[in-house]
Amino acid sequence: MTPTAAIDRSKVKALMEREHRLFAQRNPRSFELYQRAKHSLLAGVPMHWMTRWPGGFPVFVSEARGATFCDVDGNEYLDLCLGDTGAMTGHSPEAALPGIVAQLHRGITTMLPGENALWVAEELQRRFGLRYWQFALSATDANRFSLRLARAVTRRPRVLVFHGCYHGTVDEAYAWLVDGKPASRPGNIGPQVDPTLTTRVVEWNDLEALEEALKPGDVAAVLAEPALTNVGIVLPEPGYHQALRDLTRKYGALLIIDETHTLSAGPGGYTRAEGLQPDILTVGKPLGSGVPSAAYGFSEELGTRAHAAIVPTAADTGGIGGTLAANALSLAAMRATLEHVLTEEAYAHMISLGEKLEADVRGVMEKYGLPWHVTRIGCRVEYLFRPNPARNGSEALAGQDPDLDPFMHLYMMNRGILLTPFHNMALISPETTQAQVDRHTKVFEAAVKELIS
Ligand SMILES: Cc1ncc(COP(=O)(O)O)c(C=O)c1O
Repeated sequence: MTPTAAIDRSKVKALMEREHRLFAQRNPRSFELYQRAKHSLLAGVPMHWMTRWPGGFPVFVSEARGATFCDVDGNEYLDLCLGDTGAMTGHSPEAALPGIVAQLHRGITTMLPGENALWVAEELQRRFGLRYWQFALSATDANRFSLRLARAVTRRPRVLVFHGCYHGTVDEAYAWLVDGKPASRPGNIGPQVDPTLTTRVVEWNDLEALEEALKPGDVAAVLAEPALTNVGIVLPEPGYHQALRDLTRKYGALLIIDETHTLSAGPGGYTRAEGLQPDILTVGKPLGSGVPSAAYGFSEELGTRAHAAIVPTAADTGGIGGTLAANALSLAAMRATLEHVLTEEAYAHMISLGEKLEADVRGVMEKYGLPWHVTRIGCRVEYLFRPNPARNGSEALAGQDPDLDPFMHLYMMNRGILLTPFHNMALISPETTQAQVDRHTKVFEAAVKELIS
């Protein structure tokens, strides 16, 4: 057996300083724009979280196409971040553009339905197996609207989420465990109400805790990704999903499955790949090739109950939907994406390259005896700097590496590869090639050699 390679932390620090210098050298124009942006954008960025990009400032993009993009300094990148899944289709995918551009000339929003709404709902029905559909502009909103409807239908006040979850900026889902107890998620900005009043939190893969939390009978819905993906990938243990479904039914809580990231598992997400049976399913991000689009679907039974729970005269102000939700452009983009881009054939290509990336990265880890591991959901691959896969949110959070995570990210960026921040996830689009996957493996191996030399 290969001995475990030790990583000298002072070495990582020195390498990181070198990479920061290199980043500054490679990106003078981005730096200039960042300085200018400080006069008009809060903290110099259009979304505040961008202040966390490794390197000290974000690179400014000039153009993105397929699996690549170019920044304002002329650097070219292989994009394995793909807009954190928003561009899992590849950037501006050729096959979706005609449908999107045609709609731009035919009216962008009308507050009336068009036939595309039916086409998309029928396709989502076919893919995910849920009967009735509604649309939103973001996965966050799809989750918020689903929780409202779940409470309306069950007349119960509480929501249950899993420690380490992220479902967008949904107030009720901003609850984690702190010292083993439900609490507002660390860093939660000005919660409108204390999330512990609305939310129960348990660890993923802990059926006993789940049953205890459901027992009082006041939980309207369990909101879950099929696997945690926002603290590193944490997979369900065998039998966990069946037990989750059985327990939610036993205690009368609805099950909402958030497929926003796990849509990487296949054309019908993890739900179809693994035969899950949610009451509600939410999905967003790449659904419209990056044109803001999201959807939420209901089982036949729940759809009927949800419709009955909405006061007809307040249907426009009851708290779901919005002026631009289900706009004509988003629906044309969803149709074009589902019909021509995120097809069965595309997934076959994406998943087989995901398998290759996983195998190649594992090969490098084994070759150098690194106590790390790699994990995958379809075309989503993630490497983590800890020996074993985490079982739950606590283990995943404890296993994050504040030195190696940003180092690997910056090292890759300086060599023209963008990983998803902040826990090094790589996503494969229909346009990503084997040569690009090989390029990533080469740079990954080079980084490893520098770390252990
Ligand atoms: C699982 C999951 N659900 C929902 C969201 C929210 O997506 P959006 O920010 O597009 O609303 C995210 C964002 O990362 C997510 O990871």
